[in-house]
Amino acid sequence: MSQAKHHNSLPALQSLLGFSVRDDCWFIEALPLAQLAAQFGTPLYVYSKRALVAAFAAYEEACFNAQGKRRARIFFAVKANSNLAVMNCFKELGAGFDLVSGGELERALAIGADPASLVFAGVGKSAAEIRLALTVGVKCFNVESVAELEQINQIAAELSCRAPISLRVNPDVDAQTHPYISTGLKDNKFGIAYHETLKTYREAALLSHLDIVGIDCHIGSQITSTAPYLDALDKVLDLVTQLKKEGIKLRHLDLGGGLGIDYGDESSPAITEFTNALLDRIAERGFANLEILLEPGRSLVGNAGVLLTRVEYIKLGASKNFCIVDAAMNDLLRPALYSAYHAIVAVQNNEAETQIYDVVGPVCESGDWLGKDRALAIKANDVLAILSTGAYGFTMASNYNTRPRAAEVMVDGNQAYIIRERETVAELLSKERLLPQKK
Ligand code: LLP
Repeated sequence: MSQAKHHNSLPALQSLLGFSVRDDCWFIEALPLAQLAAQFGTPLYVYSKRALVAAFAAYEEACFNAQGKRRARIFFAVKANSNLAVMNCFKELGAGFDLVSGGELERALAIGADPASLVFAGVGKSAAEIRLALTVGVKCFNVESVAELEQINQIAAELSCRAPISLRVNPDVDAQTHPYISTGLKDNKFGIAYHETLKTYREAALLSHLDIVGIDCHIGSQITSTAPYLDALDKVLDLVTQLKKEGIKLRHLDLGGGLGIDYGDESSPAITEFTNALLDRIAERGFANLEILLEPGRSLVGNAGVLLTRVEYIKLGASKNFCIVDAAMNDLLRPALYSAYHAIVAVQNNEAETQIYDVVGPVCESGDWLGKDRALAIKANDVLAILSTGAYGFTMASNYNTRPRAAEVMVDGNQAYIIRERETVAELLSKERLLPQKK
């Protein structure tokens, strides 16, 4: 995930479905990106509906075996992109949702998602969030500690209902990804320690208002090989075998999300290769009867979106050239937080000379950069597209430096729809109050 050495490697074209380059102009479906920047202003997130649909279709297809039998079901990880229009596209295609907060749950309810298609995960669910999830009747709580089990049991008792639960196992495998997005090592805060899982299931079985329905694990994000998944799966299936012997029968196995995407120099396994490896292993080990849940986020939306930004100033220096743009770390945090690489392109060809630039934002921090050492032929006022920003782009945006968050647009063929209006400074200030005047 680290900043690539090369000056500008692009994701492979087949990873950029929905985007094309004609006569040096970048298009999203039938519309030029330059036109969208002019029409809606910058910074602007733009998503291709076609790319979302294609990514979902690839997963859906991979969920069926050669005989046409469904082997797995997709629960989109909303944290990757929680825009209501994006969620609604996936709902219409048949997805369920993986949620990690009461806010995400309210989003799912706002688009009319079936509560039976919702799994509620997260290491620190509050009592209010648990109450809401129980009241609407989610499919399952993915539980991460004994204390949380007790809390859910107590709230279910108060509401005179039963809570469907699954334990999130921490399988202690190394997903070989960035340490901030690796979650399945024993030093991570996530899940129940592997050697304590059986004991915790026994404790859960004794609690009066819980129904044990599944088991789950998630080992990290942006994982570009199937090997760590298979290691984790084998360990989880060992537990399922043991639980069965003890009379604790599970209905489902949730394998989490995490398949990586191509940001420029990664080659992730194809979705079918990835799902076949996992689903075949499950069948080989005699668990084909388990319902399998997958929770992809990044691989459904990451390469379906770009962030458009306009060049404010070109600043040529003795040791570095800076391209100062109107997007910043508050719009796209991934470079500042993880040193993540995102390809950056000029959306239109122009006569400028190619130079090597650091692409930086206006925020008052040296960490506010979007790309380093990029070869670009640009001048002030040009529009750049920061690629592969459909996942963990807008959802991680903030108002740092009192910067209103960007607008979001979805393109479907030759139509562009505003799916989130640009925030205004007035909206930001409206939440704040002065202290009363002292007499
Ligand atoms: N399921 C669980 C339990 C998760 O924790 C996550 C992501 C997913 C599914 C979806 O994983 P995906 O398919 O998107 O890799 N902000 C970071 C990524 C954090 C991922 C957290 N968990 C980034 O920008 O790279």
